[in-house]
Amino acid sequence: MTSEIQPSFAEAIKHEHDELEGALHRLRLALADRSETPAVMRSLFHNLATELETHFAHEERGGYFSEVLAAAPRLQNQIELLERQHRPLLVMIKQVRDSIDGRLGATWWEDTAAHFEDFVHHFIEHEVDENSLLQEAYCQDIGSDD
Ligand SMILES: [Fe+2]
Ligand SMILES: [Fe+2]
Repeated sequence: MTSEIQPSFAEAIKHEHDELEGALHRLRLALADRSETPAVMRSLFHNLATELETHFAHEERGGYFSEVLAAAPRLQNQIELLERQHRPLLVMIKQVRDSIDGRLGATWWEDTAAHFEDFVHHFIEHEVDENSLLQEAYCQDIGSDD
C-alpha cells in the first residue's frame, strides 16, 4: 500500500476550491448590487451551503484529509484543526440563508454583506491553509520518498 497522494485527487480538491471561489464571487456581486429578489438570494445561499457541505464531505469522508495524514502523519494536529473549522463555516452560511424571509430591507443587505465578508475572510484563510497543507505533505513527504 502506498502513502502517495494521487495528483488527480489533489487536482480535484483544488478544482473544488476554484469552483467555490466562483460561487463566493457571484454572491459578493449580488450583495453589492442589491437587485435580486429574496427567492434568488435564498437560492444563492442555499446553493453555496450545499456546495460547501459536499466539499467538506469530500475532504473529511472522501479521503482528502486521510490522504494527507497517510502521507504526513506529523500534520495530524493541523488536519484536525482544519476539520473543526468546517462546521462553524457552514453554520454561518446556513444562518444567512435562513434569515431570508420576505422582503429584504436595507438593514438586511448591509448586515448580510458584512456577515458575508466575515465568512469569506475565514473561509479563504481556511482554504489557503488547506492548500499549504497539501503542498507541504506532497512536496516534503512524497518528494523525499524516492
Ligand atoms: Fe476544508
Ligand atoms: Fe477545502
